Amino acid sequence: MYTQAMDIAAAKGEKPGKPTRLENPEYQAQFDDKVDRGDFIEAKDWMPEAYRRTLVRQISQHAHSEIVGMLPEGNWITRAPSLKRKSILLAKVQDEGGHGLYLYAAAETLGVSRDELVEALHSGKAKYSSIFNYPTLTWADIGVIGWLVDGAAIMNQIPLCRCSYGPYARAMLRICKEESFHQRQGYDLLLTMMQGTPAQRDMVQDAVNRWWWPSLMMFGPHDAQSQNSADSMRWGIKRISNDELRQKFVDATVPQAQVLGVGLPDPHLKWNEQRGHWDFGAIDWDEFWNVVAGHGPCNRERLQARVSAWEEGAWVREAALAHADKRAARARAA
Ligand SMILES: [Fe+2]
Ligand SMILES: [Fe+2]
Repeated sequence: MYTQAMDIAAAKGEKPGKPTRLENPEYQAQFDDKVDRGDFIEAKDWMPEAYRRTLVRQISQHAHSEIVGMLPEGNWITRAPSLKRKSILLAKVQDEGGHGLYLYAAAETLGVSRDELVEALHSGKAKYSSIFNYPTLTWADIGVIGWLVDGAAIMNQIPLCRCSYGPYARAMLRICKEESFHQRQGYDLLLTMMQGTPAQRDMVQDAVNRWWWPSLMMFGPHDAQSQNSADSMRWGIKRISNDELRQKFVDATVPQAQVLGVGLPDPHLKWNEQRGHWDFGAIDWDEFWNVVAGHGPCNRERLQARVSAWEEGAWVREAALAHADKRAARARAA
Protein backbone atom coordinates (compact mmCIF):
# COMPACT_ATOMS: atom_id res chain seq x y z
CA MET A 1 0.00 0.00 0.00
CA TYR A 2 2.18 2.56 1.23
CA THR A 3 4.65 4.92 -0.02
CA GLN A 4 5.86 7.62 2.29
CA ALA A 5 9.13 5.83 2.73
CA MET A 6 9.88 6.26 -0.93
CA ASP A 7 11.47 9.60 -0.29
CA ILE A 8 13.52 8.46 2.64
CA ALA A 9 17.19 8.38 1.75
CA ALA A 10 19.26 5.24 2.12
CA ALA A 11 20.06 4.41 5.70
CA LYS A 12 23.40 5.66 6.96
CA GLY A 13 26.16 3.25 6.13
CA GLU A 14 24.10 1.46 3.49
CA LYS A 15 26.44 0.34 0.73
CA PRO A 16 25.63 1.56 -2.75
CA GLY A 17 24.61 -1.24 -5.11
CA LYS A 18 27.26 -2.71 -7.39
CA PRO A 19 27.36 -0.80 -10.67
CA THR A 20 26.13 -3.12 -13.37
CA ARG A 21 26.09 -0.73 -16.31
CA LEU A 22 28.86 1.65 -17.23
CA GLU A 23 27.82 5.24 -17.71
CA ASN A 24 27.58 5.99 -21.42
CA PRO A 25 26.57 9.36 -22.96
CA GLU A 26 24.98 7.80 -26.04
CA TYR A 27 22.87 5.37 -24.02
CA GLN A 28 22.11 8.13 -21.56
CA ALA A 29 20.68 10.29 -24.37
CA GLN A 30 18.50 7.39 -25.56
CA PHE A 31 17.33 6.79 -22.03
CA ASP A 32 16.48 10.50 -21.54
CA ASP A 33 14.55 10.55 -24.83
CA LYS A 34 12.54 7.53 -23.82
CA VAL A 35 11.66 9.04 -20.46
CA ASP A 36 10.74 12.36 -22.08
CA ARG A 37 8.48 10.60 -24.60
CA GLY A 38 6.75 8.79 -21.74
CA ASP A 39 7.89 5.34 -22.92
CA PHE A 40 8.56 2.62 -20.40
CA ILE A 41 12.08 1.62 -19.42
CA GLU A 42 12.18 -2.18 -19.26
CA ALA A 43 14.35 -4.50 -17.19
CA LYS A 44 16.83 -5.26 -19.98
CA ASP A 45 17.17 -1.65 -21.17
CA TRP A 46 20.23 0.39 -20.32
CA MET A 47 19.59 2.68 -17.40
CA PRO A 48 21.76 5.01 -15.31
CA GLU A 49 23.03 3.36 -12.15
CA ALA A 50 21.48 6.03 -9.95
CA TYR A 51 18.07 5.38 -11.55
CA ARG A 52 18.42 1.65 -10.88
CA ARG A 53 19.45 2.23 -7.27
CA THR A 54 16.61 4.67 -6.66
CA LEU A 55 14.12 2.16 -8.02
CA VAL A 56 15.54 -0.70 -5.96
CA ARG A 57 15.26 1.43 -2.84
CA GLN A 58 11.77 2.71 -3.63
CA ILE A 59 10.23 -0.57 -4.83
CA SER A 60 11.74 -2.58 -1.96
CA GLN A 61 10.61 -0.02 0.65
CA HIS A 62 7.20 -0.24 -0.93
CA ALA A 63 7.24 -4.07 -0.80
CA HIS A 64 8.36 -4.04 2.85
CA SER A 65 5.56 -1.60 3.66
CA GLU A 66 2.97 -3.95 2.19
CA ILE A 67 4.27 -6.88 4.21
CA VAL A 68 4.72 -5.01 7.49
CA GLY A 69 1.34 -3.37 6.83
CA MET A 70 -0.30 -6.77 7.24
CA LEU A 71 0.61 -6.80 10.93
CA PRO A 72 -1.51 -4.06 12.53
CA GLU A 73 -4.63 -5.35 10.77
CA GLY A 74 -3.83 -9.04 11.09
CA ASN A 75 -4.00 -8.33 14.80
CA TRP A 76 -7.80 -7.92 14.47
CA ILE A 77 -8.76 -10.86 12.23
CA THR A 78 -9.66 -13.09 15.18
CA ARG A 79 -11.61 -10.28 16.85
CA ALA A 80 -13.69 -9.06 13.89
CA PRO A 81 -17.27 -8.53 15.08
CA SER A 82 -19.02 -10.60 12.37
CA LEU A 83 -18.30 -13.26 9.78
CA LYS A 84 -18.79 -10.69 7.03
CA ARG A 85 -16.24 -8.28 8.52
CA LYS A 86 -13.83 -11.13 9.20
CA SER A 87 -13.91 -12.34 5.60
CA ILE A 88 -13.46 -8.78 4.28
CA LEU A 89 -10.49 -8.19 6.58
CA LEU A 90 -8.93 -11.55 5.69
CA ALA A 91 -9.22 -10.74 1.99
CA LYS A 92 -7.72 -7.30 2.53
CA VAL A 93 -4.74 -8.55 4.52
CA GLN A 94 -4.14 -11.26 1.90
CA ASP A 95 -4.20 -8.58 -0.81
CA GLU A 96 -1.45 -6.70 1.03
CA GLY A 97 0.67 -9.87 1.07
CA GLY A 98 0.10 -10.19 -2.68
CA HIS A 99 1.14 -6.56 -3.22
CA GLY A 100 4.36 -7.28 -1.37
CA LEU A 101 5.04 -10.24 -3.66
CA TYR A 102 4.40 -8.34 -6.92
CA LEU A 103 6.69 -5.60 -5.71
CA TYR A 104 9.52 -7.89 -4.58
CA ALA A 105 9.30 -9.50 -8.03
CA ALA A 106 9.45 -6.05 -9.69
CA ALA A 107 12.52 -5.17 -7.59
CA GLU A 108 14.18 -8.46 -8.56
CA THR A 109 14.07 -7.44 -12.24
CA LEU A 110 16.67 -4.79 -11.29
CA GLY A 111 19.27 -7.33 -10.27
CA VAL A 112 18.74 -7.72 -6.53
CA SER A 113 17.72 -10.97 -4.91
CA ARG A 114 14.71 -11.48 -2.67
CA ASP A 115 17.04 -12.73 0.06
CA GLU A 116 19.05 -9.50 0.01
CA LEU A 117 15.89 -7.44 0.27
CA VAL A 118 14.44 -9.49 3.12
CA GLU A 119 17.77 -9.38 4.93
CA ALA A 120 17.83 -5.58 4.68
CA LEU A 121 14.38 -5.42 6.25
CA HIS A 122 15.17 -7.84 9.04
CA SER A 123 18.43 -6.17 9.96
CA GLY A 124 16.66 -2.80 10.22
CA LYS A 125 18.67 -1.32 7.33
CA ALA A 126 15.70 -0.95 4.99
CA LYS A 127 12.85 1.44 5.69
CA TYR A 128 9.14 0.85 5.43
CA SER A 129 6.24 3.25 5.80
CA SER A 130 6.26 4.64 9.33
CA ILE A 131 2.45 4.55 9.55
CA PHE A 132 2.68 0.86 10.48
CA ASN A 133 4.57 1.64 13.65
CA TYR A 134 1.38 2.87 15.27
CA PRO A 135 -0.83 0.46 17.23
CA THR A 136 -4.38 -0.65 16.32
CA LEU A 137 -6.18 -0.18 19.63
CA THR A 138 -9.84 -0.74 18.72
CA TRP A 139 -11.98 -2.19 15.93
CA ALA A 140 -12.58 1.37 14.66
CA ASP A 141 -8.86 1.54 13.82
CA ILE A 142 -9.48 -1.09 11.13
CA GLY A 143 -12.07 1.16 9.47
CA VAL A 144 -9.86 4.22 9.81
CA ILE A 145 -6.84 2.44 8.34
CA GLY A 146 -8.92 1.49 5.30
CA TRP A 147 -10.36 4.97 4.90
CA LEU A 148 -7.30 7.13 5.65
CA VAL A 149 -4.22 4.93 5.27
CA ASP A 150 -5.34 3.05 2.16
CA GLY A 151 -6.90 6.32 0.97
CA ALA A 152 -3.54 8.09 1.25
CA ALA A 153 -1.85 5.10 -0.38
CA ILE A 154 -4.15 5.35 -3.41
CA MET A 155 -3.40 9.05 -3.78
CA ASN A 156 0.32 8.23 -3.72
CA GLN A 157 0.10 5.21 -5.97
CA ILE A 158 -2.15 6.17 -8.85
CA PRO A 159 0.62 8.33 -10.39
CA LEU A 160 2.98 5.34 -10.06
CA CYS A 161 0.87 3.46 -12.64
CA ARG A 162 2.45 5.93 -15.11
CA CYS A 163 5.98 5.76 -13.70
CA SER A 164 8.80 5.25 -16.18
CA TYR A 165 9.85 1.76 -15.06
CA GLY A 166 7.56 -0.76 -16.80
CA PRO A 167 7.57 -3.63 -14.27
CA TYR A 168 6.78 -1.23 -11.39
CA ALA A 169 4.06 0.61 -13.33
CA ARG A 170 2.35 -2.65 -14.31
CA ALA A 171 2.45 -4.00 -10.75
CA MET A 172 0.80 -0.78 -9.59
CA LEU A 173 -2.19 -1.15 -11.93
CA ARG A 174 -3.50 -4.18 -10.11
CA ILE A 175 -2.45 -2.90 -6.70
CA CYS A 176 -4.42 0.32 -7.18
CA LYS A 177 -7.59 -1.58 -8.08
CA GLU A 178 -7.31 -3.57 -4.86
CA GLU A 179 -6.47 -0.48 -2.80
CA SER A 180 -9.71 1.13 -3.84
CA PHE A 181 -11.60 -1.86 -2.40
CA HIS A 182 -9.54 -1.43 0.79
CA GLN A 183 -10.48 2.21 1.08
CA ARG A 184 -14.17 1.54 0.52
CA GLN A 185 -14.40 -1.35 2.97
CA GLY A 186 -12.90 0.93 5.64
CA TYR A 187 -15.32 3.73 4.91
CA ASP A 188 -18.25 1.29 4.89
CA LEU A 189 -17.16 -0.11 8.26
CA LEU A 190 -17.04 3.42 9.71
CA LEU A 191 -20.43 4.38 8.25
CA THR A 192 -21.91 1.34 10.00
CA MET A 193 -20.28 2.23 13.31
CA MET A 194 -21.40 5.86 13.06
CA GLN A 195 -24.99 4.63 12.82
CA GLY A 196 -24.47 2.62 16.01
CA THR A 197 -24.31 3.56 19.68
CA PRO A 198 -22.66 6.69 21.15
CA ALA A 199 -19.82 4.44 22.38
CA GLN A 200 -19.22 3.22 18.81
CA ARG A 201 -19.23 6.79 17.47
CA ASP A 202 -16.73 7.81 20.18
CA MET A 203 -14.55 4.90 19.20
CA VAL A 204 -14.50 6.10 15.57
CA GLN A 205 -13.70 9.67 16.61
CA ASP A 206 -10.87 8.49 18.84
CA ALA A 207 -9.39 6.39 16.02
CA VAL A 208 -9.65 9.31 13.56
CA ASN A 209 -7.91 11.58 16.08
CA ARG A 210 -4.99 9.15 16.34
CA TRP A 211 -4.59 8.33 12.63
CA TRP A 212 -5.21 11.69 10.92
CA TRP A 213 -1.77 13.24 11.35
CA PRO A 214 0.25 10.06 10.69
CA SER A 215 -1.81 9.66 7.48
CA LEU A 216 -0.76 13.14 6.32
CA MET A 217 2.85 12.21 7.09
CA MET A 218 2.53 9.28 4.64
CA PHE A 219 3.13 11.71 1.77
CA GLY A 220 6.63 12.33 3.05
CA PRO A 221 8.54 15.50 3.92
CA HIS A 222 7.69 18.87 2.37
CA ASP A 223 8.93 19.22 -1.20
CA ALA A 224 11.75 21.57 -0.14
CA GLN A 225 13.06 18.92 2.28
CA SER A 226 12.55 15.94 0.03
CA GLN A 227 16.04 15.07 -1.07
CA ASN A 228 15.25 12.42 -3.67
CA SER A 229 12.30 14.12 -5.29
CA ALA A 230 14.07 16.20 -7.96
CA ASP A 231 15.83 13.19 -9.50
CA SER A 232 12.72 11.06 -9.26
CA MET A 233 10.68 13.72 -11.03
CA ARG A 234 13.29 14.07 -13.78
CA TRP A 235 13.35 10.30 -14.31
CA GLY A 236 9.57 9.99 -14.46
CA ILE A 237 9.44 7.81 -11.35
CA LYS A 238 7.55 10.46 -9.45
CA ARG A 239 4.93 12.51 -11.26
CA ILE A 240 3.35 14.64 -8.53
CA SER A 241 5.12 16.23 -5.55
CA ASN A 242 4.60 15.24 -1.90
CA ASP A 243 2.88 18.50 -0.99
CA GLU A 244 0.56 18.41 -4.01
CA LEU A 245 -0.48 14.85 -3.21
CA ARG A 246 -1.04 15.72 0.45
CA GLN A 247 -3.27 18.62 -0.56
CA LYS A 248 -5.26 16.40 -2.92
CA PHE A 249 -5.75 13.91 -0.10
CA VAL A 250 -6.96 16.57 2.35
CA ASP A 251 -9.31 18.03 -0.27
CA ALA A 252 -10.79 14.60 -1.02
CA THR A 253 -11.04 13.50 2.62
CA VAL A 254 -12.63 16.49 4.36
CA PRO A 255 -15.99 16.08 2.57
CA GLN A 256 -15.90 12.33 3.34
CA ALA A 257 -15.43 13.14 7.05
CA GLN A 258 -18.42 15.48 6.86
CA VAL A 259 -20.63 12.73 5.39
CA LEU A 260 -19.38 10.37 8.05
CA GLY A 261 -20.08 12.90 10.81
CA VAL A 262 -16.61 12.81 12.39
CA GLY A 263 -14.38 15.74 13.20
CA LEU A 264 -10.79 15.99 12.00
CA PRO A 265 -8.32 16.91 14.76
CA ASP A 266 -7.01 20.13 13.21
CA PRO A 267 -8.24 23.56 14.39
CA HIS A 268 -6.60 25.15 11.32
CA LEU A 269 -8.59 23.13 8.81
CA LYS A 270 -10.47 25.73 6.79
CA TRP A 271 -11.73 26.07 3.20
CA ASN A 272 -9.69 28.65 1.34
CA GLU A 273 -11.89 30.18 -1.33
CA GLN A 274 -8.99 31.92 -3.03
CA ARG A 275 -6.84 28.81 -3.38
CA GLY A 276 -9.78 26.50 -3.97
CA HIS A 277 -8.28 24.09 -1.41
CA TRP A 278 -8.56 23.24 2.25
CA ASP A 279 -5.90 24.91 4.43
CA PHE A 280 -4.56 22.73 7.22
CA GLY A 281 -2.27 23.02 10.24
CA ALA A 282 1.44 22.28 10.59
CA ILE A 283 2.60 18.66 10.68
CA ASP A 284 4.75 17.58 13.62
CA TRP A 285 7.83 16.56 11.66
CA ASP A 286 9.74 15.72 14.84
CA GLU A 287 7.26 12.92 15.42
CA PHE A 288 7.66 11.74 11.84
CA TRP A 289 11.48 11.60 11.94
CA ASN A 290 11.41 10.00 15.35
CA VAL A 291 9.25 7.14 14.03
CA VAL A 292 11.37 6.84 10.86
CA ALA A 293 14.45 6.58 13.10
CA GLY A 294 12.91 3.54 14.79
CA HIS A 295 11.42 5.10 17.92
CA GLY A 296 7.70 4.89 17.13
CA PRO A 297 5.30 3.04 19.44
CA CYS A 298 5.58 -0.31 17.59
CA ASN A 299 8.83 -0.29 15.55
CA ARG A 300 10.49 -3.04 17.59
CA GLU A 301 7.38 -5.17 17.75
CA ARG A 302 6.80 -5.00 13.98
CA LEU A 303 10.35 -5.97 13.08
CA GLN A 304 10.37 -8.72 15.68
CA ALA A 305 7.14 -10.14 14.22
CA ARG A 306 8.67 -10.24 10.71
CA VAL A 307 11.88 -11.87 11.91
CA SER A 308 9.97 -14.52 13.92
CA ALA A 309 7.71 -15.27 10.95
CA TRP A 310 10.82 -15.76 8.80
CA GLU A 311 12.48 -18.04 11.33
CA GLU A 312 9.35 -20.06 12.04
CA GLY A 313 8.78 -20.48 8.30
CA ALA A 314 12.25 -21.95 7.68
CA TRP A 315 10.90 -25.52 7.60
CA VAL A 316 8.39 -24.57 4.88
CA ARG A 317 11.15 -23.18 2.66
CA GLU A 318 13.31 -26.24 3.29
CA ALA A 319 10.43 -28.62 2.53
CA ALA A 320 9.56 -26.74 -0.68
CA LEU A 321 13.19 -26.91 -1.83
CA ALA A 322 13.45 -30.64 -1.00
CA HIS A 323 10.23 -31.26 -2.94
CA ALA A 324 11.49 -29.26 -5.93
CA ASP A 325 14.78 -31.22 -5.89
CA LYS A 326 12.89 -34.50 -5.80
CA ARG A 327 10.70 -33.51 -8.73
CA ALA A 328 13.72 -32.35 -10.72
CA ALA A 329 15.53 -35.64 -10.02
CA ARG A 330 12.41 -37.59 -11.10
CA ALA A 331 12.16 -35.54 -14.29
CA ARG A 332 15.83 -36.20 -15.06
CA ALA A 333 15.35 -39.95 -14.51
CA ALA A 334 12.28 -40.13 -16.77
FE1 LIG B 1 -1.41 -2.69 -0.54
FE1 LIG C 1 -4.29 -1.64 1.01
